[in-house]
Amino acid sequence: MKIQARAKLNLTLDVLGRRPDGYHEMRMIMQSVELADTLDLAFNNTGELRVSTNLHFLPNNEKNLAAQAALRWWAAQGEPPRGLDITIDKHIPVCAGMAGGSSDAAAVLQALNVIEDRRRSPEMVARVGELVGSDVPYCVLGGTALAEGRGEIITPLPSLPKCWVVLCKPEFSISTPALFAKIDSVKLRCRPDTQGAIAALEAGDLAGVARRMYNVFEDALPERQHARVNDIKNALIQCGALGASMSGTGPTAFGLFSNESLAQEAQERLLEFSGDVFLTRTV
Ligand code: C5P
Repeated sequence: MKIQARAKLNLTLDVLGRRPDGYHEMRMIMQSVELADTLDLAFNNTGELRVSTNLHFLPNNEKNLAAQAALRWWAAQGEPPRGLDITIDKHIPVCAGMAGGSSDAAAVLQALNVIEDRRRSPEMVARVGELVGSDVPYCVLGGTALAEGRGEIITPLPSLPKCWVVLCKPEFSISTPALFAKIDSVKLRCRPDTQGAIAALEAGDLAGVARRMYNVFEDALPERQHARVNDIKNALIQCGALGASMSGTGPTAFGLFSNESLAQEAQERLLEFSGDVFLTRTV
């Protein structure tokens, strides 16, 4: 079976505090985009999970989230692993704040639900996903949604009006656990207006959402990386983006455009910052 795994963006991201279990309490608006990895699944009936990808540095065994998802799936059905060959064609930038690995995991769960004809609801598939990672339940459900708790409590929101998105991943990567650890000691200067963004979604007001986009992790980035992300955001705004922000724990920055030709010009311009620049659309 061949399936697609879409990337996600954070329209807003707020960290409300550290929890007794070591995770952080989140409140964030998530959005799917067309940019996606492609996965090919084939049962091998050896009991083994084997992963191959077009990126040599990604794990090819049970360390890969796609393989973990399959193992969690069979454990949740109370069955031994059947064994699966997973071939992933990665297009979503890795370690970029776009949930690429979580999305691959979510796609495997959804595919196994269909191939094995289990007929579990998307919500039940999402519950298995939360055992793999905090972002996996959202990746199962997709669209425009509010994610709370450690990220696994999902409330669907009215869809963001369709628009073009230009994404740029600067040439450094961010460690998610390290940035979460750092945010505890950083004094946050600014918080996103999540409620205002939800009201704008309810009104179908794309510019109102874009204006309110903000991610508290921007304040926790090391100074030089923060400056780089800001330069990309400013370039996006100068190119006509309605708003710009960073996604997840970064470092990908993105802008929303209501006009395709402005988005194309922005894509060209941003190549000065990085080779990892994409033009995509919201889903
Ligand atoms: O859930 P997941 O395995 O994707 O989380 C990776 C790491 O990110 C966790 O080990 C934790 O350090 C951090 N995290 C957090 N609070 C969250 C989600 C993730 O502190 N809500």
